[in-house]
Amino acid sequence: MKILIIGSGGREHALSWKLAQSPLCKKLYVASGNAGTAQVAENVPLDGEDFEGLGNFVVANGIELVIVGPEVPLVAGIADYFAEKEELKSVKLIAPKKAGAMLEGSKDFAKEFMNQAGIPTASSKTFTQETLNEGLEYIQNHALPVVLKADGLAAGKGVIIAETHQKAKATLREMLEDKKFGQASTKVVIEQYLQGIELSVFVLTDGKDYVILPEAKDYKRIGEGDTGLNTGGMGAISPVPFAQGDFLAKVESQVVLPTLEGLKSQNIDFVGFIFIGLMNVEGNPYVIEYNVRMGDPEAEVVIPRIKSDLVELLDLTAQKRLSEATLEIDERTATTVMLVSGGYPENYEKGKEMTGFENLPSEIIPFHAGTKLENDKTLTAGGRVIALTALGKDIKEALEISYSGAEVIDFEGKYFRSDIGFDL
Ligand code: AMP
Ligand code: GLY
Repeated sequence: MKILIIGSGGREHALSWKLAQSPLCKKLYVASGNAGTAQVAENVPLDGEDFEGLGNFVVANGIELVIVGPEVPLVAGIADYFAEKEELKSVKLIAPKKAGAMLEGSKDFAKEFMNQAGIPTASSKTFTQETLNEGLEYIQNHALPVVLKADGLAAGKGVIIAETHQKAKATLREMLEDKKFGQASTKVVIEQYLQGIELSVFVLTDGKDYVILPEAKDYKRIGEGDTGLNTGGMGAISPVPFAQGDFLAKVESQVVLPTLEGLKSQNIDFVGFIFIGLMNVEGNPYVIEYNVRMGDPEAEVVIPRIKSDLVELLDLTAQKRLSEATLEIDERTATTVMLVSGGYPENYEKGKEMTGFENLPSEIIPFHAGTKLENDKTLTAGGRVIALTALGKDIKEALEISYSGAEVIDFEGKYFRSDIGFDL
């Protein structure tokens, strides 16, 4: 089978690393990929939002299966574009259509969806510029801290947790009046702050059946001890020790099943990944957010734990035959530590030469995120540069391996958190 993955981060390297191992994979392309995907696939210089360019490439190269990694093309309707084109409609896709991608593309839609489906989530109310004064009043009467969320996609920056009413009101004005996040903050969801431990659960569905993939915990803040600015993710661990047995059973019955039922009842035919961000509040799951894709860096720990053939699994999913699939999971713990460019998530430099690959311990799976090849050199090309994944019998063993790699790979300005897993 000829396969195309869309995206260029660590998640797409993890996907391509796994798909390339399958005997069913005859040829693998990644658009646009990075220096890591180039080792297992052929990179294609096409952007995820260039639907026409991607469609033409798919036809010209006889691609049979397309997997869409990031959210932007999904929310922009890449699956609808393929479904509407005569020459593309038979291509198998792992990508929800726009209607399903709204679960990630609009926090207001997601809230309404959860409330209708009876899915546990923080209580909330949505405001627009027209209802700004009501929003300010709502904040004044709200317990602290209070959470404000830009409705649309904001590259992980659209959530503000305000400790005072004054800060919350100023933030609401910035979002609605000053359009701090552009179109994305035309609506703002104000919600109750949930106190608990976060984790993420990943579901793969063909719109009828589903499988639950291993759960993971992501470390979002830049600084040790979960301090400082939010990032795309500084490291991840799977499985999550506090989320076993009872808790996962509650997640399935109280969140996963009602989510899939809710989609069906709204006639939303969802084929793809559902990433459910959860807060464990005293042993009960509450949904913080939905994403309609795999997480990054969560994919870098979830995918290495999948023992089954992922081409077969995704192919069956795209054909709505997921019920025929089997899913075998590695019992070991996977950890990943992200090396980032100095200054990230604010300003940082790119184009730094990366060294040390030849000295990486063989147990490490290096998943490139922001890297590129130039004149046979691997250069940094983004804020998050490379995720070092390892498997071990427990968190401690896996992390020791991941961290031994973090010392070996070098580039000017390298930074990583040395406390991934500190809370477990
Ligand atoms: P999101 O962009 O929705 O993933 O939110 C970013 C982060 O904000 C989450 O990972 C949580 O750490 C935090 N967050 C979002 N909503 C809440 C909430 N209702 N209560 C507490 N923390 C939250
Ligand atoms: N690591 C969080 C995300 O992929 O959204």
